[in-house]
Parts: sequence; C-alpha cells; structure tokens
Amino acid sequence: MLKSVGFGLAAAGAVLASATAQAKEFRLGLITPPSHIWTQNAIAFGEALSEATDGKYTVAVFPSRQLGNEAQMLQQLQTGALDMSFMTVAEVSNRVPEFGAFYAPFLVDNIAEAATILRSDEAKAMLDMLPRGAGVVGLGYGSAGLRQIVTRDEVSSVEDLAGEKIRITPFEPIKDFYEALGTAPTPMPLPDVYDALANGQVDAIDMDLELIWKLKYTDHAETMLLSNHMMFPMVGLVSARVWADLPEEDRAIIGELMAEAVDNCLQAYVDQEADFLAEVEKSGITITEINADFFADAVEAWYAKWDEKAPQLSALQALVD
Ligand code: BEZ
Repeated sequence: MLKSVGFGLAAAGAVLASATAQAKEFRLGLITPPSHIWTQNAIAFGEALSEATDGKYTVAVFPSRQLGNEAQMLQQLQTGALDMSFMTVAEVSNRVPEFGAFYAPFLVDNIAEAATILRSDEAKAMLDMLPRGAGVVGLGYGSAGLRQIVTRDEVSSVEDLAGEKIRITPFEPIKDFYEALGTAPTPMPLPDVYDALANGQVDAIDMDLELIWKLKYTDHAETMLLSNHMMFPMVGLVSARVWADLPEEDRAIIGELMAEAVDNCLQAYVDQEADFLAEVEKSGITITEINADFFADAVEAWYAKWDEKAPQLSALQALVD
C-alpha cells in the first residue's frame, strides 16, 4: 500500500515536472502605452491563453516600446528573441510592400468599412505572405482609428499645408501621400509626438481620434482636419521560429485566442470612434470636416504609385464599393 502511494507520488511528480518543463512564458511586445486598447487586449489575450491551457502558457506583455521600436521588434521576432507582438501593419508593410494596399487614401469612408476589409477572406489571405516575407506568422487583424490631421496653426485649404512638417508613423505609403501633398513628412515614433508638437519641431501630426484626445495633442493645436483619410490596421504576430516549435493543438488555441484579441481591438474602434470624436470636440479645437477633394491630386498620385506595388488593392476596394 505504502509502496503504491510512493509510486503514485513519484508518478504525479514526474507529470508535474514534465508540465513545468513544457510551461512557457511568451514575451509579447508593443509600442502602445499601458492604457491603450491594444495593450489592454494583449493582457486579456495572455489571461485567456493561461486559462485555456491551465497555465501551460502565460504571456508577459511589454508595452511602450520597452523592447524597442517596431522595426527592432520585428527583427527580434525573426530571430525568435521575441515571441509575439501586436504590431502596426505599417511596420509590416516596410518588409512586405503588398500590405501598403491597406493605406490607400480614402479606401474606406468610415471605421465600419475598415472592419469589413480587415475581416475579409481577401485580407486574411494576405497573412500567408508573412512567414516568407517577414519571418512571422500573422494570426489576425486589429486596428486603431482612422487617421486625421492636427495642426498647430489654422488650416483652411490644402495650400496652407504646403511645406509644413507633418509627423507621420515611419512607413512608405503614408510618406508617399504627404510628399504628393507637397508637405515635409517627418517620421516620428508615438512617444516623441507630444513634445514635437508642443515645441514646434513639427507643424502638424497625422494621428487617430483616440490618441488625439487621450494624449492631449489638442493642447498645442488650432485645427483638426477631420479627414478619415486612411485606415490604420494592426496585426497579431508570432515569431515563425517559435511557431514552428509549437505542437499543432497548441497553435490552434493560440491562433484562435490571438485572432479574437486583435479583433476585439478592431471592434473597440467601431464601437467608440464617435465617442472619441465627441471628446476631441470638447477640447474646443476648430474641427474642419474634409474629404478626398481637399487633397485633390495627391490621392491620384498615390494610387498611380501603389496600384502596381500593392496588387491586392483592387480586391480590397471591391469589398466596400
Ligand atoms: C501612431 O504611430 O500614430 C500609432 C501607433 C500605434 C497605435 C496608434 C497610433
């Protein structure tokens, strides 16, 4: 009897030891601050994964560029030094130009149409390019809000923007748009934007409504051009090296839960974009609603350049026409 208990404990110990040996804490990096919708959903993803796997997998979330900027994190994902990220598609498009299709100016009229595109089979099929193109596995899309322009001085026509230094997220499609407009696009990571606008290092910023409100960019601005000129998708990524070592059944769980978490981000903007605008309105800044006509030739020039570089563009357009 005693012997049998002894054997039972030994067996249980062995099972525990093997479970502990297999237990893994994934590191997930992002550039957004702790309070941001992306970061909150990354934390929720970690909790859901731990629960679904009885603690076999946990996720340590590193917000606010703690592990580097997105270009550095993408490199770490390629080598397997980083396991996961919720990353702007902007950064991914620097490696896989086809993803530039998502940034076609005025591709969508509103965030609900952005959701239609990002949830489509066409968009999902594009994720298949990522292992070969960027060394990562894409599990689904999220988003931030549509892009607007906040200016230090009053702006009432596109001529007022000529030569202005406009902060952009560092990626090609948006740089091309602002160059076509005759402005001086100034690539700058998110944490540097407030000071740059405050001290006049830039004349204007390209940003979404949530952050215009939450990070108080209106403190140092006269005008917001409510343009909704571009989508700003995000993608849930796992290092292809890390992915290759995971058992098939674990990939299925991780894939499902990460896709759900990034989609929750997208849905948060669908649900709250109008509230974010209402908050910006409270700041008293002048808000001028504009459309594609305001930018005239720049939109055409962008399409002329990217139609070829991003052949998926026409299929995405067809989804919301
Ligand atoms: C930006 O660079 O403007 C940005 C990055 C991540 C989330 C939202 C905005």
